[in-house]
Amino acid sequence: MKSFTSFSDIADLSSLVQDALACKKAPLSFSSLGQHKTLVMLFFNPSLRTRLSTEKAALNLGMQVISMNADQGWNLEFEDGAIMNAGSAEHVREAAAVISQYADVIGIRTFPSLKDRDKDYADQVLNSFLRYARVPVISLESAIRHPLQSLTDVLTVEEYKKTSRPKVVLTWAPHPRALPQAVPNSFVEWMRHAGVDLLITHPQGYELAPEFAAGIPVEYDQNKALEGADFVYAKNWSSYLQYGQILNQDPDWQITRQKMERTNDARFMHCLPVRRNVIVEDAVLDSASSVVIEQAGNRTYAAMAVLKSILTNAL
Ligand code: CP
Repeated sequence: MKSFTSFSDIADLSSLVQDALACKKAPLSFSSLGQHKTLVMLFFNPSLRTRLSTEKAALNLGMQVISMNADQGWNLEFEDGAIMNAGSAEHVREAAAVISQYADVIGIRTFPSLKDRDKDYADQVLNSFLRYARVPVISLESAIRHPLQSLTDVLTVEEYKKTSRPKVVLTWAPHPRALPQAVPNSFVEWMRHAGVDLLITHPQGYELAPEFAAGIPVEYDQNKALEGADFVYAKNWSSYLQYGQILNQDPDWQITRQKMERTNDARFMHCLPVRRNVIVEDAVLDSASSVVIEQAGNRTYAAMAVLKSILTNAL
């Protein structure tokens, strides 16, 4: 693996998951692999889980870590041929190449604008770093994907599944703010290869981009979708079709204990952060069915497996 930005960068999902599980069993077994190597992480948006788990993963592998908040006061230019006589003081061409002088691996975290669909789906920030960096790049969530989260989600389903081919339901849930489609896009991109029966449920108008969701069944009746589910993965996203808009805030889409009773004693999953009693009620989040904390814990081992693969193959 040279860079890690989407499912297509990995050679074999099953091996990567097994590697993550091995890292979980013995997190310090590879503590000299990253010795004298540096991970530089740039955050164009705030993060709790991705930042700390990826840093922890790198430290477990013996790497040094430098993190930089790139969201304030650093107006990077991304357009080719730009006449930089306004606010941007530095072009990504130099920035990515310069960071590569200090880093053996670069991590990039960015969000979409949710205003211009074509621009967001071009994933300009991540792709510019991929183009101009001289070392491997890992996505710490881009405008349209969150692959470290999705690998974690596959790993968590693998750990908790009770049948060889569990039913996994990705359900939209309400939220007061417009959120990216990165997590659900990526979730579908990875889960379709994970040996599960995947079903998506959301209100009309929340269909995901065809490049991610084509061929995956959608059930518009959430109660029906939840019948017999082994895993319920709740997430809000804004509309792709009416790009970036909130079309629905119906509290009936919240995951409640009553709804969980329709499932096959399902595990409740969410990438976090989660709005309590908006996305999911306390009674579910605080129940034994919820694995959200364990899921967040698995972020470290997913990141370890990815960094390990990059350190082994590309450096
Ligand atoms: N799930 C996730 O990416 O969390 P953070 O936004 O805290 O990184």
